[in-house]
Amino acid sequence: MISTGSIAEIQALITQFKSEGKKIGFVPTMGALHQGHLSLVATAKEKVDIVVCSIYVNPTQFNNQDDLKQYPRNIDTDKDLLDENGCDILFLPSDEVMYAGRNTIKFEFGDLDQVMEGKFRPGHFSGVALIVSKFFNIVLPNYAFFGQKDLQQLTIIKKLVEELFFNLEIITVPIKREAHGLAMSSRNERLSKEEREEARIFYQALTEAKSILKENQSGEEAKKEVKHLFDNHKAELEYFEIVSDKDLLPKTENYLAPDTVLCIAGFMGNVRLIDNMYLSDV
Ligand code: PAJ
Repeated sequence: MISTGSIAEIQALITQFKSEGKKIGFVPTMGALHQGHLSLVATAKEKVDIVVCSIYVNPTQFNNQDDLKQYPRNIDTDKDLLDENGCDILFLPSDEVMYAGRNTIKFEFGDLDQVMEGKFRPGHFSGVALIVSKFFNIVLPNYAFFGQKDLQQLTIIKKLVEELFFNLEIITVPIKREAHGLAMSSRNERLSKEEREEARIFYQALTEAKSILKENQSGEEAKKEVKHLFDNHKAELEYFEIVSDKDLLPKTENYLAPDTVLCIAGFMGNVRLIDNMYLSDV
């Protein structure tokens, strides 16, 4: 694996590979890698000739400075994991390289960044769109791989690609979970052993809401059940929404259609967790 923090160097490598007719796949991450990230790398590996990964904790997408400070960083382990899992090029830029004097552009996505995460994390998706646009322009991949785990991010990035004519295809990779259902996340590292156990309530809530919706198609009842589960539980619910994956707006009917996805977010201790599940997921 070749590792570099230089834009000129990564561009020279990619130009060379492209001139040999090789297809480039890109997997952006913020590091503290887990099996979820590695499943993106594995999916990319199957589809393309050259897998480019990035590790960069992007300051402009953190609305909470403590979260940024506490974001786990395991660069040596991450490098080994990527190397063992077939990453060809690792881009590891500094803040200076990505932003020096260039942090003025803001993105707005209409309703898409106003709901769910957008309500609780002002400016977050603008920062994500900014860094992802920069990466796309540097790497010029044929395919970019994103996890369903961050469903709203995925919807917004698809919009970004469509509206700005980025010449690449977005590939969605399913959510990787711990054995008891908790969605894998770099932030899980900040949970105690006990909190990690208890955090499975987010998965349980999604599963129960899904079976209620499948049985009697009552959104109200599904919401009531989720609220009830979180009453007297250590985890704190921020939102539970039943939305369409097309516009991320709440659905009140036609729940059994394939666009219906249940989204949840909240705190376990001081760690914020998100998760989602399609009604059609098995
Ligand atoms: P990060 O949280 O490191 O996630 C990197 C990628 O891994 C995202 O596409 C995310 O959806 C995916 N991912 C995370 N957990 C997953 C899981 N349990 N199963 C499957 N995929 C999972 O998302 C970001 O970084 C940043 O916002 C980024 C896009 C890199 C821009 O800074």
